[in-house]
Parts: sequence; structure tokens; C-alpha cells
Amino acid sequence: MSRPDRSGSEELESIVGEAGERALVRPFHGLVIETRRLVLRAPVAIDAPAIAEIADNARIAQNLTSLPHPYRTDDALAWASELADDSEQKHLICLKRSDGRRTPIGAITLDFRRGARLPTLGYWIGEPWWDRGFATEAAHAVIDYAFLHQGHERLSVSCRVTNGASRRVIEKCGFQMVAQELGHSAFFQAVVPVDRFQLDRRTWESLRRWEPLRLAKG
Ligand SMILES: CC(C)(COP(=O)(O)OP(=O)(O)OC[C@H]1O[C@@H](n2cnc3c(N)ncnc32)[C@H](O)[C@@H]1OP(=O)(O)O)[C@@H](O)C(=O)NCCC(=O)NCCS
Repeated sequence: MSRPDRSGSEELESIVGEAGERALVRPFHGLVIETRRLVLRAPVAIDAPAIAEIADNARIAQNLTSLPHPYRTDDALAWASELADDSEQKHLICLKRSDGRRTPIGAITLDFRRGARLPTLGYWIGEPWWDRGFATEAAHAVIDYAFLHQGHERLSVSCRVTNGASRRVIEKCGFQMVAQELGHSAFFQAVVPVDRFQLDRRTWESLRRWEPLRLAKG
């Protein structure tokens, strides 16, 4: 992983901070990222039953590369016990409740799975929470952290060609399509057509710096 000139990133970090959108907390069992409605943190063993309850859903598994189906508490325990290294991210997505509780609603990762050349984003949200902007909010935070703090230059993500909701999340993060190819599906025990997208640092910086529109009076 190459280390870029950080001066531009430091300026951007202050823009992100000014917007009050992200709070990074260390250490709390690793990295914790807070967004307006969510807390992203490392999963722990005690989360396993809650994770299994929402991940045991064919509508989730059929859109992911390797999520087991059916998905049991043991699968969640195994996932929680895998360590991410410093160039990767692995988060349980928790919803902040008005009574102070934080409910697990999904997961998001950035890693080099299957020998990927680029850090690759993966995510799922429990079906009761779909279409409320949570995947996009979590992905924005993971992407910001990847460029601001992990020094990545380019990120990758793939989705099945039939996955309109994920494609929309990917578009709302600024990724651009680079290829159509076949990807492995554990659910179907087959390869399925997928679209692959990338987001480079310059594009992300440009999107983050997009100024608010000011209309002149008169
Ligand atoms: C894909 C997934 C993560 C999206 O999570 P989410 O929290 O609902 O996503 P968001 O609310 O941030 O954004 C969803 C967008 O897709 C749109 N959408 C929903 N269903 C759609 C469909 N069938 N076709 C096109 N767009 C769709 C929503 O309207 C929304 O766009 P908008 O904000 O412009 O209105 C969730 O559906 C999921 O977990 N699916 C199963 C697992 C999966 O597909 N993971 C991604 C693998 S690449």
C-alpha cells in the first residue's frame, strides 16, 4: 500500500470534522466510527445471536459472495473471531436508538478477500432496515476512513447485475464501473454475472470538496 502526500488529506479531514459527521474513537476494542445515526465497531462474541438472527436471510446471502446460508450463531462467532489487519476494516453496523441502546443492523467490511489486488468493500443490512440510507451512511464512513487514515489510493466493489439496491449505494458513494465479469456465489454454488466498480482518491477528494451552492442576491 503506497503512502500518499498527506497534506491534502489533512485538509479534508478537517472538512469532514467540521461537518460533524464522523467521530473516530480509539480504542474501544479496536476502531469505532460514529456517524449521524450509526456506530460502526468490531463485532464481539456476544453479538453472535443478534447477527445470526438478521443474517439468516436468503435475500441477503444470494447477493453476497460467501455468506453461509442458513446462517447460524456459530457462523457469526467465526466471523467475529477473524481479525482484520491495519489496512482492512471489519465493522458491525449498529443503529443508535433514542433510549441509548445500539442495535446491530448489518455489517460492512473493507478487505483483500480472495487475494483481491485492491481493498474491496462488502456490506449487508438486515431486511427490516432496508431503504433508509443506512448502507450508504456506513459506506461513506468506511470510505472516508480508508482514504483519510489508511492511505489507500483506490477502492473496489462488486455487485450482482441484478442487485439494483447495491448498485444505487455504490453510485451514491461515487464509484465508477470498470468491468462486467463473473463472480463466485456460495449461495448458488456457481458463478454469477457481476459489475465491478472502483473509486480513486482524486474522485473522492473532488466529491468531498464540492462546495455548497451560493446564489448572489439581486
Ligand atoms: C444492498 C443493501 C446493502 C442496501 O442497503 P440499504 O440500507 O437499503 O441501502 P440505502 O438505503 O443506503 O440505499 C438503497 C438505494 O437503493 C434503492 N433501491 C432499493 N431497491 C432497489 C431496486 N430494486 N432497484 C434499484 N434501486 C433500488 C433505494 O431507493 C435507495 O436509493 P435512493 O436513496 O436513491 O432512493 C441491502 O439491500 C442488502 O443488504 N441487500 C442484501 C445484501 C447485499 O446486496 N449486499 C451488497 C452486496 S454487493
